[in-house]
Amino acid sequence: MKTLRLTHSLLYAGLALSRAWNIQQPLSDHGASLGSSDLLELHKSLVEIPSISGSEGEVGRFLHKYLKQRGYTVYAQPIGTYSEGRQNILAYLGDSNQTRVLVTSHIDTVPSFLPYERRGSKIWGRGTVDAKGSVAAQIAAVELLRSANEIAEKGDVALLFVVGEENGGGGMHAANELGLAWEAVIFGEPTELKLARGHKGGMVVVLTAEGKAGHSGYPELGTNAIDLLVCGLAGLQSAELPWSEEFGNTTLNVGVIQGGVAANVIPAQASATAVVRLATDRVDETKAIIERAVQRASPEVRVEFRSGRGPVSTDYDIQGFDTVILNYGTDIPNLKGDHKRYLYGPGSIHVAHSNHEHLDVSDLEAAVESYRILISEALQMGRSSSLEL
Ligand SMILES: *[C@@H]1O[C@H](CO)[C@@H](O)[C@H](O)[C@H]1NC(C)=O
Ligand SMILES: *[C@@H]1O[C@H](CO)[C@@H](O)[C@H](O)[C@H]1NC(C)=O
Repeated sequence: MKTLRLTHSLLYAGLALSRAWNIQQPLSDHGASLGSSDLLELHKSLVEIPSISGSEGEVGRFLHKYLKQRGYTVYAQPIGTYSEGRQNILAYLGDSNQTRVLVTSHIDTVPSFLPYERRGSKIWGRGTVDAKGSVAAQIAAVELLRSANEIAEKGDVALLFVVGEENGGGGMHAANELGLAWEAVIFGEPTELKLARGHKGGMVVVLTAEGKAGHSGYPELGTNAIDLLVCGLAGLQSAELPWSEEFGNTTLNVGVIQGGVAANVIPAQASATAVVRLATDRVDETKAIIERAVQRASPEVRVEFRSGRGPVSTDYDIQGFDTVILNYGTDIPNLKGDHKRYLYGPGSIHVAHSNHEHLDVSDLEAAVESYRILISEALQMGRSSSLEL
């Protein structure tokens, strides 16, 4: 029974989609919209190509070819050394790389590679959600707009797919060198089909303790770095970090801990690394609170901070979407410019990065229509504001 119902709703979704995409209509000269099976096929191809940060060469080449075949002008921006073969892919219509709206996501994934597997109404595999679901839906949405003649043959929309989002944002940093600017940029990351109001900031905290090695039978002759670190971490956990109404609590995760060489040796060295998800702009104040809390608990522990950025607000002035605040970081602050920023995508961050990453087919399909609306509205807004001038 359950299976039957699922199949039925799937059929219905497919039917609604084919109607929405006008796939029965004659195709325009400028592009043929992607049908539902094409969308699934594209998503499958993207997921099947392993593209852990640092080795996105093949998926970049795939997209280059795919978009070129569909009539886009494609510019591949090399990232890193030639032999690595990594590239950002910028695709646009006609001969104008300068467009009013940019639609972007990332093509790298976290480790480890997990193969594509379709089971009923769900698709499993690394990147199905983060962020190849967004990439496939974004391309399908632009194709839909093209086939309906709802975007100009040039100058309205470009697609940009970057490398390295999961590992420092090098791809998006490099995209600043393209020398382009936009009225609005639509970023694709898993938001459970909601339009983001913003996301938390982030900061890395490293605690290091130096001790003095010795025989474990004579602890009084050495200094145990692990003991020092553990006390410092207890202090860190008890720190009261600033919060805000909009972004909630600042939270902290100790993700790595290292130290010692053998159970019968007094450890001379220990360290821990934590990520703080900042809910306020008070970055320096947060650092000071953390430093004080650790020092009070364990004065010999050294505290260092890497990066440190307050929360990012995004635009949500488009009707018809539920909105959400997200607790993860994105490439959004890495792309400089005076553009509007929208953040939207299919799938849940709760399964992204996990060994059970998966996406509902219906979410992938729904995202196409939503991206279409976001792109249209962003173009519309720009037009009406230039009319006011
Ligand atoms: C964009 O187009 C301009 C004008 O044709 C060209 O000079 C520039 O190199 C292009 N940039 C990219 C990144 O394609
Ligand atoms: C923030 O933390 C407090 C306790 O520290 C908790 O009661 C509250 O539910 C948390 N708020 C959110 C939004 O998680």
